[in-house]
Amino acid sequence: MYNEIDIDKIDTAAEPPTEEPARQYYFMARCRQWVQEFEKKNGRVPTACVVNMGCQMNARDSEKLAGILGQIGFLETGDEHADFVLYNTCTVRENANLRVYGRLGYLNTLKKKNPDMLIALCGCMMQEPRVVEKIRKSYRFVDIMFGTHNIFKLAELLWQRIEMRKMTVDIWDDTSLIVEELPTERKYPFKSGVNIMFGCNNFCSYCIVPYVRGRERSRKPEDIIREIERLVASGVVEVMLLGQNVNSYGKNLETPVTFAWLLRQVEAVEGLKRIRFMTSHPKDLSDELIEVMRDSKKICGHLHLPVQSGSSRILKAMNRRYTKEQYLQLVDKIRAALPDISLTTDIIVGFPGETEEDFAETLDVVRKVGFDSAFTFIYSKRTGTPAAAMEDQVEEAVVKERFDRLLAEVQAISARVCARDLHKTKEVLVECADDHMEGYVTGRLSNNILVHFPGDLSLVGKIVPVYLEEAKGFYYMGRMEET
Ligand code: 5AD
Ligand code: SF4
Repeated sequence: MYNEIDIDKIDTAAEPPTEEPARQYYFMARCRQWVQEFEKKNGRVPTACVVNMGCQMNARDSEKLAGILGQIGFLETGDEHADFVLYNTCTVRENANLRVYGRLGYLNTLKKKNPDMLIALCGCMMQEPRVVEKIRKSYRFVDIMFGTHNIFKLAELLWQRIEMRKMTVDIWDDTSLIVEELPTERKYPFKSGVNIMFGCNNFCSYCIVPYVRGRERSRKPEDIIREIERLVASGVVEVMLLGQNVNSYGKNLETPVTFAWLLRQVEAVEGLKRIRFMTSHPKDLSDELIEVMRDSKKICGHLHLPVQSGSSRILKAMNRRYTKEQYLQLVDKIRAALPDISLTTDIIVGFPGETEEDFAETLDVVRKVGFDSAFTFIYSKRTGTPAAAMEDQVEEAVVKERFDRLLAEVQAISARVCARDLHKTKEVLVECADDHMEGYVTGRLSNNILVHFPGDLSLVGKIVPVYLEEAKGFYYMGRMEET
């Protein structure tokens, strides 16, 4: 297993191997020599800080990046006063980009105090050529830039930067390559994300993801299962299967399989207790998947099913390929088979051409479905997407007013819906010490709702029965039952 490779035994005087991942382990070894020299010179180990700015896919990528840096010998820190700072960026909405530029200004002041500091940028934002141009021109102090398709190359790029002493930029347009067997550093010992596919083929008209994450590529089922088996062997009890559109998993494999089929294989992994997945596109959610969820003992009672809008007219303009009625029918079908399921969603307000009537349809869906929670977003114009060129962009003040109304509605409904398990005893996976109350821990129900209850850190990573005493809107206060 590569995670157990002894990097110090790699012959760095030899030419770098051409095949992956051996090539990357070679560069990790070279970078490690640089780390050792740094240590001799400065009397301390260099520190590295990986900042994740995006979704769960980015978070998983950040764990891989931290894993590579850990192998190289960096000491991980959450503090940006580090010797190596890496921003894993997101570009799904414009304000994510603006935040990066703002923080780069701050990093520049840190670099002036520590001239040996290295600054790297990767992730979705780097897949936009105009962003890379802007950074090349106006943010000359950035050392390394790479994109979403070649995160596995971090060690090689770092080595190049160290040797060449100038800005290293490596952005790929797309790739069919999936490099397996790289080190990762997990944030939690008991749960982990697992990529099952990369990219998206849907081209919703507002979304930049298909342009920055490329076409859909599914990992081979055997690689996924092997990764999960290893995770379980190292203490993981819950996995979150990750993809932009998990319901189309496996369509482009040499031997095509369905997502429901994959779930059955994951269910069979001994020792694994909980399975989550995201994100599901409503247009691809199959009856087979509902059946597998109904029959499963491990798949959690939660489905994230982004609706985006309640207006069939706007859904058409968004290229979502379902109508309001079809979405509601799907929800009915899911609820008929899985009455206790918790449904969450994403909603965009202010898509070009959205009228008050269209918005009223969105509110109607929110009321009819009764989501446990909804992530609400103000439409953000992304250059290069079809929606950016649409006429009738909605006035900012109108969008803001609709957004506030939607949020109030979503919150009121969610407070009511989330209380459905009050006075029941449910299984909770304990995640950490409670942030606010000493002597309490925080855990998650199968349906993803948080529960706080008295307990100590020895419970972390365990699944325990908890009586739900008090519903607080988005979470419960509870009491552990005797086991
Ligand atoms: N503007 C606002 N929200 C967006 N999303 C994706 N693209 C945009 C955009 N241009 C939202 C969608 C998606 C979530 C991850 O981000 O709701 O489901
Ligand atoms: Fe974007 Fe639509 Fe793909 Fe989701 S399904 S990543 S919203 S294009």
